[in-house]
Amino acid sequence: MNWSGVIDRYRSFLPVSDRTPVVTLNEGNTPLLAAPRLGEAVGSGLQVYLKCEGFNPTGSFKDRGMTLAISKALEAKARAVICASTGNTSASAAAYAARAGLRAFVLVPRGGIALGKLSQAAIHGAEVLMVDGSFDQALTLVKEIAERHPVTLVNSINPFRLEGQKTAAFEVVDQLGRAPDYHLIPVGNAGNISAYWQGYREYHLAKLGQARPKMVGFQAAGAAPIYENRVIHEPKTIATAIKIGNPANWARATAALEESGGWIEVVTDEEILHAYRLLASGEGIFMEPASAAAVAGLLKMAKQGRFEPGSTLVLTLTGHGLKDPDTALEHSSRPVTVPPKLDALLSALSL
Ligand code: F0G
Repeated sequence: MNWSGVIDRYRSFLPVSDRTPVVTLNEGNTPLLAAPRLGEAVGSGLQVYLKCEGFNPTGSFKDRGMTLAISKALEAKARAVICASTGNTSASAAAYAARAGLRAFVLVPRGGIALGKLSQAAIHGAEVLMVDGSFDQALTLVKEIAERHPVTLVNSINPFRLEGQKTAAFEVVDQLGRAPDYHLIPVGNAGNISAYWQGYREYHLAKLGQARPKMVGFQAAGAAPIYENRVIHEPKTIATAIKIGNPANWARATAALEESGGWIEVVTDEEILHAYRLLASGEGIFMEPASAAAVAGLLKMAKQGRFEPGSTLVLTLTGHGLKDPDTALEHSSRPVTVPPKLDALLSALSL
């Protein structure tokens, strides 16, 4: 199939017209992979599928929302865009802004962003500002700037972001031939869970999906404002992408959980790291720690018998593992150094 990105594929569901200049990197159409090993590990006849969003052009699901946000910004004759980010939004904004010929300003928390993401924003030519503070503080600042200055905000408070991201739910239904019974997803700023629910609802209304899944969100235990129902002033987790204490789409996410009959849970950093390694070594899929939160959640919830036996589950794996090489190296076995000699090599190999 000829694929030209999510606006082209799902145009009738999106707020675009013939006058919208489409800025695309052919995002979307990501694999929905069966995960037989994970299925076996959780038992109860659960069918587990992974929506591998790390295989988007900039390595995360943000590209689906960014194609729309940047296209609409260009249509509105914007000259510059701005965002706060734990990394992936900034990488995506930088790439799509470069493609569109727009200036991009990105604010990231100093010391709280993975190396791959920072390098993406930099090489795409974004003006990167390290804020000596949290993501939540950076978001408050960019909102104020966008209100007062001619620069378009492309965080997920921009409604076009969620409109674009909802296409992932359309794809899941198209690929699976039906909606899953449960959709498991990591939650940070809470845009993606809201977007998926919007997508499932719209496809259901258009009679393209017979059912709607229960949405199940996972936050890191040290950064779980929705689960704890309070703002977390100093969120802590190894999964820097979801290290957020006051999510912008809090209310929308809560509505998605309630309307779908789903729930929100927490997973510890240990559970995230276990799932992170399991996914890479057991399924051959390298995703970043925040994505592994959904896998950790699957293992935890299945153990508690929270899923109806025989159900179909889809997990969104939100970002590629290469985004965060430091964490991968820190949590896998160290390479062994050997002299360039056959006998030394053979003794190291223990064949
Ligand atoms: N997974 C990854 C890899 C992310 O980058 C994010 C969010 C999430 C999950 C959570 O999604 O915010 O829609 O609930 N990253 C944002 C960023 C905050 O700035 O890149 P959410």
